[in-house]
Amino acid sequence: MTKDREVFLEVRNLHQRFGRHRVLRGVDLKVYRGETLCILGGSGGGKSVLVKHLCGLMRPWKGSVTVEGEDITNLPERALGAVRRKVSMMFQGGALFDSFTVGQNIAFPLREAGLRDQKEIDLRVRRALKIVRMSGQEKKMPADLSGGMRKRVALARAVVEMPACVLYDEPHAGLDPITSDSIDHLIRDLGVDHKITNVVITHELRSVFRIADRVAFMKDGVIYWKGTADELAASRDPELVNFVQGRSGNRDGWDQDTPRIDTSG
Ligand SMILES: Nc1ncnc2c1ncn2[C@@H]1O[C@H](COP(=O)(O)OP(=O)(O)O)[C@@H](O)[C@H]1O
Ligand SMILES: [Mg+2]
Repeated sequence: MTKDREVFLEVRNLHQRFGRHRVLRGVDLKVYRGETLCILGGSGGGKSVLVKHLCGLMRPWKGSVTVEGEDITNLPERALGAVRRKVSMMFQGGALFDSFTVGQNIAFPLREAGLRDQKEIDLRVRRALKIVRMSGQEKKMPADLSGGMRKRVALARAVVEMPACVLYDEPHAGLDPITSDSIDHLIRDLGVDHKITNVVITHELRSVFRIADRVAFMKDGVIYWKGTADELAASRDPELVNFVQGRSGNRDGWDQDTPRIDTSG
C-alpha cells in the first residue's frame, strides 16, 4: 500500500434512523482503492445498515456517501444501477434463489442490467465461477451445495460484473474454520489479482488477521476506532479488549494461543 492512497469511497457524517431508533449517528469513513477494510462491532450496531449506504441500497437520513468522487447521496434510482455495478454486495446469508441453477443465480445481475446475449452471459458466468474456484458447476441447484459453496456462488454473483469494490456482509457466518479460510483466500485474491477494493463485515478475528489492511470498529453508531489488525491486538482500550476477548471465547474464533502478530496469510 502506497503512501498517497487514493480514496475510493468516502462516508461523511452519515446518520440513519428507523423511526425513533437512531442507528447511525455520524459515521465518517474513508475506503482506499485496493485495500481490504474489515468492519467490526457488536451485533445490531449498524454494520449492515452502513454498508448498504455504500452501494446506494439505502439513502442517508443525513450526511453523504461519495464513490470515486461522485456524491451518490441524492442520485435518482435509475442512476444507482451504475453505482451498484461498481460497488457490489455479497449479502448476509448469501441470498440465492433456490429455484434457479447456480448459473442462473450468477447471471441474475447481468440480466437485470439488460444483457441478453446468451453467449456473453455464459462467458461471464464461467469467468465468475472460475474466480471462486467452482468451474463447471453452472447446472447445480443451490440446495445441492454445501454452505461454503453457496457462499462462493453468492460471491461469484457479486463479482460477475467485475466491480471495483465488493462489500461482504458476514461472509464467514455459519462456516467452519477451514471453509472460512478458503473464503479469506478468495477475498485476498480478488484484491491482489483483480485489484478489487474489499469491505468486509466480520466477527472472525482469525480472518481479520489474515485479510485486513485496516480495521474499523463500530460502536454507538459511529466509527469508534480505526487501525491495523496489529494495533487492534495491541490496544488497551477496554472496548476493544472486551470485543477481542469476547470473540476469543467463540469456538471458531480467535483463541488465546493464536499468534497475534501473524498477518501474513
Ligand atoms: N429496515 C429496517 N427497519 C427497521 N430497523 C432496522 C432495519 N434495518 C436494520 N434495522 C435496525 O438497525 C439496527 C442495526 O442493524 P444492523 O445494521 O443489521 O446491525 P449489524 O449488522 O451491526 O448487526 C438494528 O437494531 C436493526 O434492528
Ligand atoms: Mg449485520
